[in-house]
Parts: sequence; structure tokens; C-alpha cells
Amino acid sequence: MSHLGIADANSADQPTDSDIFLNDVLHGLRHRPRHLPCKYFYDDRGSKLFDAICELDEYYLTRTELGIMERYAPEMAEVIGPGVMLVEYGSGSSIKSRLLLNSLIEPTAYIPVDISEEHLNQTASGLRSAYPDLEVLPVGADFTEPFALPAPSSPYNQIAVYFPGSTIGNFQPEFAEKLLRQIAALCGQGGGLLIGIDLQKKIPSLEAAYNDSEGVTAEFNLNLLHRINTELGADFDTNQFKHLAHYDVEHHRIEISLSSQCDQTVTVNGEQFLFAKNEEICTEYSHKYTIEGFANIAQEAGFELSKAWTDPDAMFGVLHLNVVR
Ligand code: TRP
Repeated sequence: MSHLGIADANSADQPTDSDIFLNDVLHGLRHRPRHLPCKYFYDDRGSKLFDAICELDEYYLTRTELGIMERYAPEMAEVIGPGVMLVEYGSGSSIKSRLLLNSLIEPTAYIPVDISEEHLNQTASGLRSAYPDLEVLPVGADFTEPFALPAPSSPYNQIAVYFPGSTIGNFQPEFAEKLLRQIAALCGQGGGLLIGIDLQKKIPSLEAAYNDSEGVTAEFNLNLLHRINTELGADFDTNQFKHLAHYDVEHHRIEISLSSQCDQTVTVNGEQFLFAKNEEICTEYSHKYTIEGFANIAQEAGFELSKAWTDPDAMFGVLHLNVVR
């Protein structure tokens, strides 16, 4: 459909966002073990709940990454170089981007890319008033798929992607490598990547970060089922699913799931799904890396580590990598 509501010639062949959402959900629920794609966490409510997670005592990630940005943004700006077109993956509420923008030397344009358009537009207008000289060109897109960059009105020296939040850890290492390859292609020669990764550490602090005492993380996880109910007309009883998160030592990852509290049947788009008591739907993995381990994956994807910054306890890392081919 065009914005006028007139069907395009090929609209019958073009699946809508809701068709894709439904297909992804059905596919994941038919699969064993069952899973749901984590990108659907971030509707408007999900984005707000995630912002609340970032404020939690247990969730050290955001606070620690912010601390690194506050301390080292000028060094980061130096390695990124002047006149950059900065593309941010998953722009969220942009506090970290502001820290970086404050230090960048004459940036040409800032392109926040986010799947949640409402969140994105709020962020963009806030940034426009804070940085009147900066061209802000938001892109509503799923960055796991290739997307086109808007053309800024003034020339730039190079493209840098900023990918904070350790979101890269939410992808399996093979897919993370594929995504890094896409980022290298987007930046091209002379481009760079500034990326946040959560580092391997003792299990109790990791598990606490995903099992907060206020239950915000549980609410965030369950919001996915609410969303499937409202948008796809499903009938998940959200009181009969429980949030779980534990660390898998072998894969170096937190595994987040929703566990069925009883034997039950759920209907999605007329299809029935039988859940056994304690059966889990995996909703997210959060991989934890070492700096070396991550640099190795990035190298496979065409990057070379130029500099890494961490907090004093080495909980979190911010890495700068250059495109080398
Ligand atoms: N990128 C975040 C992380 O891996 C996402 C996240 C935090 C998350 N808490 C969560 C995802 C709970 C699902 C459930 O840390």
C-alpha cells in the first residue's frame, strides 16, 4: 500500500510487517526447542521496559558502558576521525550517542537506525534541538537486513557505525559474523566500527543482571507474548508463563526463556500449540565475549581491532575496529 492507501500493483505479493511477524512466530513455535525472535521485544512498550531495565541496579551493562563513554569519548572521537557520517544501530534513547557526538570532530550527519519507529522519531527530534548543526536522518529499519543509507546534504570523510549496548551478543556467533560483514560493506574502505560488548565474568553477576528483583526483566520478556496476543490475535495466558534466565558455561551465554507453568494449549492464527509443563520458549541469547575472542570474529568479517576501552573491573568493553578489506 502507498501512504495514500492505494494498493500498489504488486501489493498482493508483498508480505506486510504483520505477515512477517506472524510467520516468524509460527515458525518459531513449531520448531523444537521452541523459540521466538528477540527483535520483536521492541514495540513501544517493550522499548520503554528495556529503558527501565537499563536503570536497574543489577543491570550493570548500561551504567558501565556509559562510564566508559564518559571517560573515553574524546579518545574514541580521535580514532574515528573528523567529518564522519555516524550510523547508529539500534539507537534506543541515545544517551551514549550524545556522549560520542559531544566529542566527535565536526560530524557531518547522524543516522540512527531502529526497528521501533516511534522511539526513533522521539530520539531524532530531541537530537535535532540539541545539535542544531548536525544533520539527523533517522532510518526505520531492521538492521539485521541490508538497508539503504540516506544521502546527507554535505560531503563526509568516512562512515562509522556505532553499535552500543552489546546487542551484537544477542546473535549467535555465526550470525554476528555475518552482521559484521554487512557492517563492513556498509562502511566501506576507510570506515570503522565502534561496538559495545559484554565481557565474560563470574556467573552470579551475569545471572543477576537478567533476573532483577523488581521483575522488570520478567515483564519485558512476557511483553513478547502480550504483543503476539494483541497484534496476532493469539491467546497466550501470560500468567501461565514464567521468565527464566541462566548462564550456559559452554556457549558463554545467558539463555533467556519463557517456561510453561502447566500443560496448556495456545492458539495462534487458528493453529493450536500444546505446551507441556516446564516446556520453554527460548526468547533470547546474550553471548559474553573476551576482547580477543570478539576481535577474532571481527577479523573474519573484514575488520581489524584498533583500540579497546574497558571499565576498571573489565566488566564491559567498547572496541574500535577498522575495515581492512
Ligand atoms: N541486549 C540486552 C542484553 O543482552 C537485551 C536484554 C537485556 C534482554 N535483558 C533482557 C533481552 C531480558 C531479553 C530479556 O543484555
